[in-house]
Amino acid sequence: MDLKKLKIEAEKGVKKASNLKELDKIFKKYLGKKGEIARVFNSLKKLSKNEKKKKGKEANLAKIGIERIIKEKSKKLKEETRKLKLKKERIDVTRPGKKIEVGHLHPLTLVQREVEEIFESMGFSVIQGPEVETEWYNFDALNIPKDHPARDIWDTFWLKNQRLLLRTHTSPVQIHYMEKHHPPLRIIVPGRCFRHEATDASHGVQFYQLEGLMVDKNISVANFKAVIEEFLKRFYKAKVEIQLRPSYFPFTEPSFEIDVRKGKGKWVEMMGAGMVHPNVLKAAKINPKNWQGFAFGVGLDRLAMVRYKIEDIRLFYSGDLRFLKQF
Ligand code: PHE
Repeated sequence: MDLKKLKIEAEKGVKKASNLKELDKIFKKYLGKKGEIARVFNSLKKLSKNEKKKKGKEANLAKIGIERIIKEKSKKLKEETRKLKLKKERIDVTRPGKKIEVGHLHPLTLVQREVEEIFESMGFSVIQGPEVETEWYNFDALNIPKDHPARDIWDTFWLKNQRLLLRTHTSPVQIHYMEKHHPPLRIIVPGRCFRHEATDASHGVQFYQLEGLMVDKNISVANFKAVIEEFLKRFYKAKVEIQLRPSYFPFTEPSFEIDVRKGKGKWVEMMGAGMVHPNVLKAAKINPKNWQGFAFGVGLDRLAMVRYKIEDIRLFYSGDLRFLKQF
């Protein structure tokens, strides 16, 4: 083909190319290894020396010319894409921002912290214990031997191997602690407990207890009453009445159920309690002749339900934001 025509055609093609891919096609068509210009150079072989020189020069000029216009067009296309991208990605700083949501503590955590603070001010330490327990700590050491009917009080989640279980109460931590610490001692143990029961508004398969234990010389029910009344007065921020009802727990003797009433309100069953049974002290290698103690187990969920007037315990574990956002 005539070189002049070739150049005009190439120019037309470049002009038409509307993106880099199309432009690349044109580059290949004219300047590629098997392109039009390469073909012209190939055909030079057949020509005489003079003609070769003349045509060669022309072909070279055409090549340089096409290269130049492609380069220019490529620059232009790149610039256009950049501008388009900038336009698309432009941030409108005048648009209203997204509000950052700040989380907050769960109502049970709020109540737990408050309760801890009150007991700490009365000299109690806050202790943790394992949620997975052995039979020994959850039952035997607490004076509940195997095959004892009292075991039925606690519907238990047994783990597969039948030697471990999910603790049914926080009382096993009494034993853990007394094994390692000699009296006098005062502890509270907040923690999660599990029971294999049907759920309803006041029972969940999981719930939070707060165990209390005080062991010292000459401890009596009067000490327990004083401590628990002080606690309740400060937690309710009001005068409350309490009522001790005789009850039964294998690990306390005598045992009570404690009901609480604010003003002229309803009596609410709040905790189990009693004087630590001598067998429990013995299981932790403490001599019951020298030391006595009281223990109690209060439902943290119950305390929170009273504090916030919540009717259904299951709400605490529902993860429902409409509920949680109210605290
Ligand atoms: N561990 C008892 C329960 O779940 C409560 C309790 C604790 C009673 C300490 C007496 C003393 O149900």
